[in-house]
Amino acid sequence: MNPSDQSIPDITEDVHRTLEQLGVRDAAALGHLFSQIESRLNEEIAQLREKASDAEAIEAFRVRWLGRKQGIVRGITDNWLKSAPPELKREVGQRLNALRQNAERGIEQIEKPPTLKFATSEVIGVRDSVSSVQLAESNQLDVTLPGNRRPIGVRHILRQAIDEITKIFVLLGYSVEEGPEIESVYYNFEALNIPEDHPSRDDQDTFYIDRQTVLRTHTSPVQIRTMEKRQPPTRIIVPGKVYRNETPDASHSWMFHQVEGLAVDTNITFADLKGTLDHFMKAYFGSKVRTRFRPSFFPFTEPSAEVDVSCIFCGGAGCRVCKGTGWLELGGCGMVDPAVFACVNYDASQYCGFAFGFGVERPAMLKYGIQDIQQFFQGDIRFLRQFR
Ligand code: FA5
Repeated sequence: MNPSDQSIPDITEDVHRTLEQLGVRDAAALGHLFSQIESRLNEEIAQLREKASDAEAIEAFRVRWLGRKQGIVRGITDNWLKSAPPELKREVGQRLNALRQNAERGIEQIEKPPTLKFATSEVIGVRDSVSSVQLAESNQLDVTLPGNRRPIGVRHILRQAIDEITKIFVLLGYSVEEGPEIESVYYNFEALNIPEDHPSRDDQDTFYIDRQTVLRTHTSPVQIRTMEKRQPPTRIIVPGKVYRNETPDASHSWMFHQVEGLAVDTNITFADLKGTLDHFMKAYFGSKVRTRFRPSFFPFTEPSAEVDVSCIFCGGAGCRVCKGTGWLELGGCGMVDPAVFACVNYDASQYCGFAFGFGVERPAMLKYGIQDIQQFFQGDIRFLRQFR
């Protein structure tokens, strides 16, 4: 390109003289000087683009502006920047950098045209009226090109597990309830008949917000909240987060998920509880698993039981995972204690029901062969993307 084609005066010769020689002594004069050189650069870029310049012309432009020995940017560095008075040095440095970037970007855009030029509404018009060849020639958007593929996320494995568990119970006629994770001591303990001296009430086991408020330690408080607002028949499940003051290890987390279940009606027996949980285990782990119930104690159910599933790895023969017992513990359950019905004004002589609660992480670990509960919460994409 011949710089004399330009309509803006060529002051690029000035880069061979110092600011002092050019009489530039303050910010205003410096600003004016740089504006001229920037306009000049912009005009040369525009000309280069308009003429659809070839590689030779682009190279000539590159040498003129960015050449290492004689380039204009080099000249400004050597003659304006190095000897600039201290109060102007910063400004010279900044404007020089901007100029360099502008020249580089100019070349880049000519060599590799930008793909997006129109606002959305114009793009629609363009699609209808201009061929992709025309678009390519005018450096504008080619709507016929394939778009950039965005990675598609997946539901977190715990969300998948909760959805799967929920679906099994919804098909049995249960509805889904939620409750607050920041819970009152009343709902978390008192209404569930959990006495003052119960270890789960201890600071060691529970995160207290104040003396009356805790991070819920289980999903059971939602039993109370639901019964308070609804009369039987009641069939609900409650999936959600719970918190316990625990030292994390491979099978314990201080935050984990539970699914609570509650069924209240006039004629419900322990056999219904057993049948329901047996159905759930088979639907979740496969039809071959068996369930067993061991007597246990929970203050809000009577009688209470721990429910186990036959080891899904060894089929019950005994292995490392089930520690040779053939069984894996899943959660707690039992018939709702009449003391709990009294708290919610249900007539215990008329109604009865069962409740259960189990963790989500441990069954999911068994089902998917996950060794460490902490992996659920580390956000490691390599782990998570295995569960598509
Ligand atoms: C309860 O939380 C009772 N609310 C369950 C219940 C509901 C009993 C209704 C009767 C009627 P438990 O503390 O055992 O029970 O916890 C239930 C399950 O939560 C455990 O079997 C285990 O699967 C899971 N769990 C408990 N602590 C942790 C922990 N720190 N990390 C991961 N999972 C845990």
